[in-house]
Amino acid sequence: MSMENCIIIELPKTTDPRGNLTFIEGMRHIPFDIRRVYYLYDVPGGAERGGHAHKALSQLIIAMSGSFDVILDDGMEKKRFHLNRSYQGLYVCPMIWRELDNFSSGSVCMVRASNEYDEADYYRDYAEFMRARWKV
Ligand code: TYD
Repeated sequence: MSMENCIIIELPKTTDPRGNLTFIEGMRHIPFDIRRVYYLYDVPGGAERGGHAHKALSQLIIAMSGSFDVILDDGMEKKRFHLNRSYQGLYVCPMIWRELDNFSSGSVCMVRASNEYDEADYYRDYAEFMRARWKV
């Protein structure tokens, strides 16, 4: 559950003069079953989202349209990913603090999640996340 697990996954892409098609099957293209999908849209310029970690949730984050950055922090190191392709997804394993910023105008951030929404699965306080991360 550290930064090495968080990778850009290249999703299948069927190219066609009529338009491209990408598909995602849980446990085949990504390492979890999909129980929930949500998306961020109409994000105002300069806005920041995220600012939390999950105890058990796995997620795949995709820039369906436009672009944005995801900053991941496993308590040891921070890494910034620029997402701008709808056939690539950033896999985020549990116990990773994430922030999203640098949203382009009209961008859409789609997230596939391994479980239903559960506020009890969140760390919304960074100090609490760090204490849990390092069990101090
Ligand atoms: P939040 O997770 O804080 O958004 P972000 O990832 O940008 O920080 O969620 C914002 C609000 O939406 C919060 O009140 C919880 C609610 N919410 C749901 O009800 N269901 C969901 O699946 C998600 C992701 C959020």
